[in-house]
Amino acid sequence: MTSPYWDEKLAERYRRFQYEFPERALGGRVIAVAGGTGGLGAATVALLAREGARLVVGYRANRSRAEALRRAVAEQYDATLHLVEGDLAEPAVRRAYRDAAEALGAPLYGVVIFAGDAARVKWEELDAAALEASLRANYVAPILLAKELGSAMEEAAGGSMVLLATMQAVAPFESSLNYAPPKAALAHAARILARQWRRVRVNVVAPGATIAGMAEASVSGGKYDPYISGGVIPRFGRPEDIARAVRFFLEPDNYTTGQVLVVDGGLTLRR
Ligand SMILES: NC(=O)c1ccc[n+]([C@@H]2O[C@H](COP(=O)([O-])OP(=O)(O)OC[C@H]3O[C@@H](n4cnc5c(N)ncnc54)[C@H](OP(=O)(O)O)[C@@H]3O)[C@@H](O)[C@H]2O)c1
Repeated sequence: MTSPYWDEKLAERYRRFQYEFPERALGGRVIAVAGGTGGLGAATVALLAREGARLVVGYRANRSRAEALRRAVAEQYDATLHLVEGDLAEPAVRRAYRDAAEALGAPLYGVVIFAGDAARVKWEELDAAALEASLRANYVAPILLAKELGSAMEEAAGGSMVLLATMQAVAPFESSLNYAPPKAALAHAARILARQWRRVRVNVVAPGATIAGMAEASVSGGKYDPYISGGVIPRFGRPEDIARAVRFFLEPDNYTTGQVLVVDGGLTLRR
């Protein structure tokens, strides 16, 4: 008996070595990128704009950088960014992402959450307030946005969600007690959401030492140089590396959910 799920037409195509690799598959899709104006998020926004996605892009307070990105994307890709300002911890701000996406007139298809905080604090100053602030910024606020937008996508047409963790969430690094554990929780939450939702895939990108954004000062200051001089990594990460990883998970025919992709040039593997 043939399986009711068997697709003979597809099988016949493969016997003839005919495959489909869609290009510009995200063209026209509505995608919300929270924290999309930062060092890593902006490259993802540029890649998605180049492909013709319709973008809602959020930031917390740095309006001049957001406006500069909006102008650059309009000039380079003839694309319009719909900006949302405010802290994700605020329910009204999370609602604003949903409203901005709905105003575009097509179902929300994708959500990428870059918003996060390096939560740097000296060991002697690490206290309950610092731990709670990092948990709020790196876990509570992103997960509440994921819950709200993902539930809407699950009820509508389904889609893809990508959360941003860090290599420090998958391997222990010194001085990351305040930053990494909430990011590890975020990665675990992504798997829970991926299991719960049937029509929304949820994946995580975990960047390594990347040239732009919150690690810029550490990288330019030489903190990670020993990894290059010691042959651990061939170069520092670039925002384009992260953008390509995010885009992979966003592709409509992507077959992956509940996974963490570490984009660190092999740093956590070989250090
Ligand atoms: N850069 C790296 O090497 C690296 C490595 C590992 C992991 N990561 C992770 O990758 C993500 C992006 O990092 P990045 O380097 O691009 O950071 P970034 O340059 O500091 O940008 C952060 C972005 O998120 C926004 N944001 C921050 N907190 C927010 C909040 N509570 N509500 C709304 N928006 C908020 C910022 O808006 P404003 O500018 O207006 O504040 C900005 O758009 C973060 O989650 C980070 O932990 C980065």
